[in-house]
Amino acid sequence: MPHHRPDHSAHTAHHAGAFDSDRIADALTLEGTLAAGVTDQAIAQCAELFDAGDAEVCRILDLGCGPGVATVALAAAFPSAAVVAVDGSRAMLARAEARASRHGASARVETRELDLDGDLGALGTFDLAWAGMAIHHAADEVAALRSVRALLRPHGLVCLLERADPIVVRLADDLGRPGIWDRVRAAQSDWFERARPTLPGALNADRYPGILNAAGFDVVVSQTLADTMTAPDDAATRTFLTNQLQRATRNLADFLAAADLTALQACVEPASPPHAGDRWAGATVTTSRKLFIARQQDDHRTTMTVRQHGTV
Ligand SMILES: C[S@@+](CC[C@H](N)C(=O)[O-])C[C@H]1O[C@@H](n2cnc3c(N)ncnc32)[C@H](O)[C@@H]1O
Repeated sequence: MPHHRPDHSAHTAHHAGAFDSDRIADALTLEGTLAAGVTDQAIAQCAELFDAGDAEVCRILDLGCGPGVATVALAAAFPSAAVVAVDGSRAMLARAEARASRHGASARVETRELDLDGDLGALGTFDLAWAGMAIHHAADEVAALRSVRALLRPHGLVCLLERADPIVVRLADDLGRPGIWDRVRAAQSDWFERARPTLPGALNADRYPGILNAAGFDVVVSQTLADTMTAPDDAATRTFLTNQLQRATRNLADFLAAADLTALQACVEPASPPHAGDRWAGATVTTSRKLFIARQQDDHRTTMTVRQHGTV
């Protein structure tokens, strides 16, 4: 039966060379660390589905693995599985290798330099294909996911994570304006709702059920995951959180009362106290992701089973 094929062109395809910088690798490592809670929730949901189907997880593909934060989390969560971490950026793969080594997972983590739009066929077959904030970089997301589907064993799952809401930063200090962080959060939601239609595809994850369907998958889990953690109090995290608050301040000019906006602007000015230190103590950061877990549509599973058993 032909699948409905909506227009999926409104995404942000990038060549992975754009990621070849220490600055981006550092930022992705930090963001991955702050998102550890949502990554763990997503992994737990995959594990539950495999357990329910009594299926063993022997090989995992991490597509667009970046600096390998999720790669290593996957290796830890599935201790008898091998993880193949794929990225188009050598710099990212070097980071992923170093991280796997630091976490004692090198023996089970293999890295491969490959383009998401290229031929993935030589990677072998997998029980789980994981793609964290990666598929939107493919020039043709449906085609890339079809290639992924062809690598899955009959019980195999694909798990996509994409950004949901903007990162929410809250300081313990209310800047002399009680309730300011609740108002900032509400203003961020209002801004995001208004801006969403104009934002790049990477921020419009609601497209993925349609894309997965067009690529021959049935979505079995579609959820927004969120996790709040106390931010580590180190210089790199402070810089990252300052950048997030500066961006929020720019976006919220029309959404926040003037006095709140002034307090926020003063707080993120380079010379203001947060950079000096104390104000960051107890800061929290909330990260959210859209999670989609899908399995092959029945007609594709049947074909794969027959092919794997060698009867055709
Ligand atoms: C936003 S990062 C996500 C990294 C990691 N999965 C995570 O969740 O933090 C996207 C990754 O996809 C890689 N990438 C972008 N375009 C690619 C392409 N066409 N082929 C292969 N990898 C690509 C980048 O090098 C980068 O590491």
